[in-house]
Amino acid sequence: MEQRIYLNNGWYFSDAYHAGMEKTDYRYEEETPVRIPHTVAVTPLHYFDEHEYQKISAYFKTFNVPAAWMDKDVYLTFDGVAHSCVVYINGKVAGEHFCGYTALTLNIKDLLDYGHENLIMVRVNSREDQNIPPFGFVIDYMTYGGIYRDVYLEVKDPAHVEDAYVSGDMDGRIRLDFTATAAAAGKKLTVSVGGVTLGEEILQTGNKSGEDAAGDQADNAKNQADTAKEPIHLLREYAISSPLLWSPEVPNLYTIKMTLEDEFGVVSDEKEVRFGFRTAVFKEDGFYLNGEKYKIRGLNRHQSYPYVGYAMPKNPQRNDVYLLKKELGLNAVRTSHYPQSHHFLEACDEMGLLVFTEIPGWQHIGDETWKLKAIKNTEDMVLQYRNHPSIILWGVRINESVDDDDFYKRTNEAAHRLDPVRQTGGVRCYKKMSLLEDVYTYNDFVHSGDNQGCDTKKSVTSDTNKGYLISEYMGHMFPTKAFDWEEKRLEDAIRHARVLNDVAKNDDIAGSFGWCMFDYNTHKDFGSGDRICYHGVMDMFRNPKMAAYVYAEMQDAVPVLALSSTMDIGEHHGCNRNETYIFTNADSVKMYKNDNFIKEYVHDNKQFSHLKNPPIKIDDYIGDALKAEKMTPAQERDVKIILNEVAKFGLYQMTTGSKLKAAKLMTFHHMSMTDAVELYNKYIGDWGGASVSYRFEAIKDGKVVKTLRIAPMTQMHLEVECDRVVLKEIESYDVACVRIRALDENGNTLCYYNDPVMLSVEGNAELIGPSVIGLSGGRGGTYIKSVGKAGNAKLTVSDVNGRATADVEFKIQLEP
Ligand code: GAL
Repeated sequence: MEQRIYLNNGWYFSDAYHAGMEKTDYRYEEETPVRIPHTVAVTPLHYFDEHEYQKISAYFKTFNVPAAWMDKDVYLTFDGVAHSCVVYINGKVAGEHFCGYTALTLNIKDLLDYGHENLIMVRVNSREDQNIPPFGFVIDYMTYGGIYRDVYLEVKDPAHVEDAYVSGDMDGRIRLDFTATAAAAGKKLTVSVGGVTLGEEILQTGNKSGEDAAGDQADNAKNQADTAKEPIHLLREYAISSPLLWSPEVPNLYTIKMTLEDEFGVVSDEKEVRFGFRTAVFKEDGFYLNGEKYKIRGLNRHQSYPYVGYAMPKNPQRNDVYLLKKELGLNAVRTSHYPQSHHFLEACDEMGLLVFTEIPGWQHIGDETWKLKAIKNTEDMVLQYRNHPSIILWGVRINESVDDDDFYKRTNEAAHRLDPVRQTGGVRCYKKMSLLEDVYTYNDFVHSGDNQGCDTKKSVTSDTNKGYLISEYMGHMFPTKAFDWEEKRLEDAIRHARVLNDVAKNDDIAGSFGWCMFDYNTHKDFGSGDRICYHGVMDMFRNPKMAAYVYAEMQDAVPVLALSSTMDIGEHHGCNRNETYIFTNADSVKMYKNDNFIKEYVHDNKQFSHLKNPPIKIDDYIGDALKAEKMTPAQERDVKIILNEVAKFGLYQMTTGSKLKAAKLMTFHHMSMTDAVELYNKYIGDWGGASVSYRFEAIKDGKVVKTLRIAPMTQMHLEVECDRVVLKEIESYDVACVRIRALDENGNTLCYYNDPVMLSVEGNAELIGPSVIGLSGGRGGTYIKSVGKAGNAKLTVSDVNGRATADVEFKIQLEP
């Protein structure tokens, strides 16, 4: 039966491997007890050296092997070990692996001591000087180290399903690429979906798929002895009528079940694979999902977290999918620059996110040994991930590398051989490169503020008959911190909007992935000098920056209403407000100043003609208030235009149009400069006047769905937002992601609150990371980890000035 026995608990760790540690008499119990996922080095949030995690370390674990397993196959899987490892079972080498981002599975049956305790020892090399991808040159992300994904055993009858690749299309066809062990010969295979049998057949030695079998017929007899030992391979097609299709909007999933049984009905193996019915094709004129043109809107995601790097269990991985999908309203993600946790991919399948996943690498291509590893990575990626219906494209080039046709012919061949259904891409940063893939995937960084948002397809690739997808934009072109100047943060948001708008406008661009979801730790050669690349639309704790609202406002599920400004004029040069935008997905937004209605704004499609719910520019701080001045309508209009313009850009930046209007007002209406200043103070009321408050009401279908009040702060408080308050230990420990924000009494982030905050946990949980953190831009976070004990825990967060405290209670449950 398919059942995983997770081996994530009860490990011992030594951060310095030395010869002899693999021997069974090594006293590993004296090393540090740890649980998986584990990082070889807990690091600070920033300002640390990447050599801290580059080491050769050792992990130890004992496990019981019942005598009843004697006639079974026992598979041991490491889902992710960064970056290469040798696995020893009871002192003997069981296998090795040279990729930090794909899984290693070993059949360890011959090395086990049945009826006794057995010892696993893993020598883990997390150094970056190895001749394996992605290493060999500089890399713009930290690569961390450790056994950082699940470890588990599967114990199977010798007659079992080895592998099954299942894909469904929009017409209800199911393609099953099936492999069983040689020992399964003579067993009946039953394939069913939702309890309905699709096919039954007796497996035979030498069973081959159609094409394989034809080539083999001639020398069948000769090979009989060999084929008896070979796995049984079948390629089958089934169909169901009117399937519920999979899409990001409605991610319907089905489960196919394969049962092997003998003539007496004794089941030797059952395997279930989850899949979806969907057809995903990149064509010359765009991307088609289930036969309909579909614009991909996504972000790039690294798999890193503060302090523990890659070592996060299931729920934080799933939370990132939730944030991409529900908070940012995206329909896609690129797992830059390597295959990521199956927990992440499973959540993409379930919540509905299209995925572009790729082999590990960053610009550098190594020698032939290195290339062979990359080809093996391609095979492993496809074999290990192809059952995720969310994946729509394989990246089979090293991200941003130069052309190497011979090498990339081999990676393309591997991907197409193991997955004839999906297309390939491979990320480039140069135009007009050799295209062996099905889709030209290109990092378009052309937008620099005052030009086009993206290049046209035909200016990038001559292969215009193939698909074209933008795999990155923004990022290093405009690094922006959550605590940057307001105008910088706004410019960042508007640049994201400009690129998205131009991608939407170009019909033959399949879509785009922005760089990137959140800020990340990087090597000394990149970032802002503190080992962080501030390229995210969220910070490292996944707190949204302003640019996040450009994405969030395009979704309809949750009402969004945010303002680009705190309306504190002292934040701006010359105390001129500059542009202010409203981000919303409502039909309209009513603006009030000191509770006086000013204007009802609707989405203005002039600036972003192709965006759904584009940002709305505020152009009026006066409304009808000038009516009280008893001016002529023309005079009133002109005064309003001038005052609004001066409010934004100052007296000295007046446009020629406004200067002419001012001249007219002075000449014909005898207005003086003193009158103008008086009007300005009265109706704009900025520098030198008392501060004002604003209220914004987002209206959808005639109802106010969200209100925002912006006024000078008088009181701060802390908001502690957790992705969950019930922690469940299933595969391993569980972790809650906590976002902390300093807010004013109206719930607005205090964007320059950079003070320390104290964190403490009581009960059966612990903090990941330090217990005193500095908020950055009013934002921060922490992680709460279960410790293997059921019960309660409480997190208390308090600010250093003793002004604010918040707590959250957690429940911890242990699942059997
Ligand atoms: C790209 C690269 C990414 C990241 C990004 C920053 O060139 O593929 O990994 O470094 O630039 O903008």
